[in-house]
Amino acid sequence: MSDAKTRAIDAYIRAYDKKPEHIIRAPGRVNIIGEHTDYNDGFVLPCAIDKDTVVAIGRHDGDIIEALSIDYDAHDIFSIDGDIVESPQLWANYVRGMAKHLLLGDYSLAPSRISIAGDVPLGSGLSSSAALEMAVGRALIEQSGQMIKLTDLAMIGQEAENQFVGCACGIMDQLISAKASAEHALLIDCRTLECSAIPIPENISLLIVNSGIIHSNSDGAYNERRAQCEKAALHYGVAALRDIDENQLEAGKAGLDDISYRRARHVVTENARTLAAAIALRQNDLSKLGQLMQQSHASMRDDFEITVAEIDRLADIMNDAIAHYCDGRGGARMTGGGFGGCVIALAPHEHIADIIDSIHRHYKKNDNQKVEMLISRASAGVNII
Ligand code: GLA
Repeated sequence: MSDAKTRAIDAYIRAYDKKPEHIIRAPGRVNIIGEHTDYNDGFVLPCAIDKDTVVAIGRHDGDIIEALSIDYDAHDIFSIDGDIVESPQLWANYVRGMAKHLLLGDYSLAPSRISIAGDVPLGSGLSSSAALEMAVGRALIEQSGQMIKLTDLAMIGQEAENQFVGCACGIMDQLISAKASAEHALLIDCRTLECSAIPIPENISLLIVNSGIIHSNSDGAYNERRAQCEKAALHYGVAALRDIDENQLEAGKAGLDDISYRRARHVVTENARTLAAAIALRQNDLSKLGQLMQQSHASMRDDFEITVAEIDRLADIMNDAIAHYCDGRGGARMTGGGFGGCVIALAPHEHIADIIDSIHRHYKKNDNQKVEMLISRASAGVNII
């Protein structure tokens, strides 16, 4: 039994003096390529990681939802009869937001008690928040004896995050946490929400390295990038940057300021790289995939300007190790929203230890502590356990 599952069940029994009726897990995610393309109606290629948020749920009385967060050692209680308003506790707003937006989506909710435990590293860009939304949402639906399509669950999660929590994120994190397949990445068309599962070849490992850096204003910078992309789409007269290719980008750039042009160039080239990367992954062409990942990192660094010096250094160390030990078969890039967080590498199993060793030798965090590393399998999306 996973540690998070044990902790969620034990805390439930301790707090409520009975056994939970259902246990639900939802995974965090890592994005292989396709960054800041989701809210431009473009393409992304994430997979779920083998770290989860687990929710234990059972019935309650009246019109109350009571929630316990084991990881935050905190408690929340709210009524589902009437307007659900914000809590001063951020974690609780993901629970309240899911409840509120399920109700707005015409799902009815049963009064419930829940306890939540997770092992997705918090605040590291691996989408602990989407895992929380998907686990809580699926649990509330199960407890009230209803059904929901996974795409609808993901859309409600995004709506809750956009409108209740106040972060203007795209659909990638919720959709992969809901719909991932074990041992597969998911190519998602963020306009149609069509998903194609692509097997991750057995010889490849996913190495995720957490820089430990968290940017203080990453939400503000994220929303600013989004606004710059919308401005560029308006300039080109299209609904979203998904609708132009590199030729159109160049042909129509007159009159667009340099920053908006470079933001657009990142999105347009990243969409093309993501589609090419999906083909390379399908063909187990690790050299091509690695080149695309390196180009993606450079584009995030130079055009979209969402990397920080330590992340660039980590990615360089990992790409140098891949060039040296793996003959260029593989690549590394920053993953997620940016301004810190994690670097992901895809490389052959047999050389992962060499890459890790290189990181230990060459990269030191500012406080001289070691970085955290995770070798993950691609796991399945939200489910009842
Ligand atoms: C965050 C958001 C996603 C996506 C990525 C960047 O993780 O939640 O919707 O925009 O950043 O690719």
